Amino acid sequence: MVKKSFFFLTLAILIAYYIYIPLPDNVEEPWKIMLLDAVMRTPSHLAQFAEMLGLNHFVDSMMFFLSFQDVPPTSDENVSVTDTTFNNIPVRIYVPKRKPESLRRGLFYIHGGGWCFGSNAFPACDFLSRWTANRLDAVVVSTNYRLAPKYHFPVQFEDVYTALKWFLHPEVLKSYGVDPGRVGISGESAGGNLAAAVTQQLLEDPDIKSKPKIQSLIYPALQNFDTDSPSYRENSHFPILSKSVMVRLWSEYFTTDRSLEKAMLSNQHIPLESSHLFKFVNWSSLLPEKFKKGHVYKKPTYSSSELTKKYPGLLDVRASPLLADDSKLRGLPPTYVITCQYDVLRDDGLMYVTRLKNSGVRVTHNHIEGAFHGTMSFLHVKIGYRTANQYISWLQENL
Ligand SMILES: *[C@@H]1O[C@H](CO)[C@@H](O)[C@H](O)[C@H]1NC(C)=O
Ligand SMILES: *[C@@H]1O[C@H](CO)[C@@H](O)[C@H](O)[C@H]1NC(C)=O
Repeated sequence: MVKKSFFFLTLAILIAYYIYIPLPDNVEEPWKIMLLDAVMRTPSHLAQFAEMLGLNHFVDSMMFFLSFQDVPPTSDENVSVTDTTFNNIPVRIYVPKRKPESLRRGLFYIHGGGWCFGSNAFPACDFLSRWTANRLDAVVVSTNYRLAPKYHFPVQFEDVYTALKWFLHPEVLKSYGVDPGRVGISGESAGGNLAAAVTQQLLEDPDIKSKPKIQSLIYPALQNFDTDSPSYRENSHFPILSKSVMVRLWSEYFTTDRSLEKAMLSNQHIPLESSHLFKFVNWSSLLPEKFKKGHVYKKPTYSSSELTKKYPGLLDVRASPLLADDSKLRGLPPTYVITCQYDVLRDDGLMYVTRLKNSGVRVTHNHIEGAFHGTMSFLHVKIGYRTANQYISWLQENL
């Protein structure tokens, strides 16, 4: 009896120890966040362990755990949901069931997952798209794209661009009853990276007649040059997305060769000959004072050009939209940017906001105190629900 209760007490302490992580005071519902983090950490630890034993690539194991969650396209009382392909790229389309009063708005949505994970069939992504379609009375196209480690940059970018271009064909928009003047592009995390990149690319594409009305970037990744910004420093061990995982995902976008990850972790992957590009991602000049507080800017340590020769994507604006110069940014449509206080990617979003404003682009910046990366994927958490509502309201008024 005593032995048994001792066993359970020990087990309870071990579980609590595994789940408990100290969180800042302004994080709401801390126990929910800790549980979420533990639920996400467990497969990640197992996947790292399997990789250490040489059994399976980290991302492949994670994909295996995540694949059980995918939901089939399921219509409900308000929205018809179908899977189809746009020029061979799988997309899921959400069309409101109510009779349209006129042409509808269209939203092209790109899921997150660090270019390695995720799909439009992931429950949180499916729910958000369905919700958006119903609340905005809009046609939502949620695209898939091929993922790392099987496929590297620029495949992810090109798949998304291919699907987007297909959607923007006047006949295709017409067949879905979409107003060509009211199409938006939106994406979350790595999807925010792809959204920013394809929106820039559209500016230079003579084939595209109807340009997007808005873009929405939800805690996007926008550069890989500097992984030592204040937000990377402050949140390197924050739940949901740590610096080590983010750097791993960035490097997997380009290659499975782990030497790039090592170089990126110590911020020594950009060669001297590319030093002129640092001004585009210089947090010392681009962050508002309050976010720089207490941080000293470290001059970049340049590497040999070996890595950038092998992986030219490192210097490519289609991977790091912050590398675009001002003359290019000037042409961008009105932009909504969400950044979260506790997110390694916070400063990417902040720097883009500054650069867009400096270029005269209309920007609405929603910085959310107390929020963490991926917030909008957790609609059962109060702050996630609030953030998603703010996002929908902005689209309601601006798309
Ligand atoms: C359908 O739309 C109505 C009104 O927006 C909403 O109250 C209801 O919950 C929606 N149904 C589903 C299944 O989402
Ligand atoms: C970044 O900006 C700071 C302050 O504006 C400046 O001193 C520094 O030289 C810049 N660094 C680079 C690499 O551009």
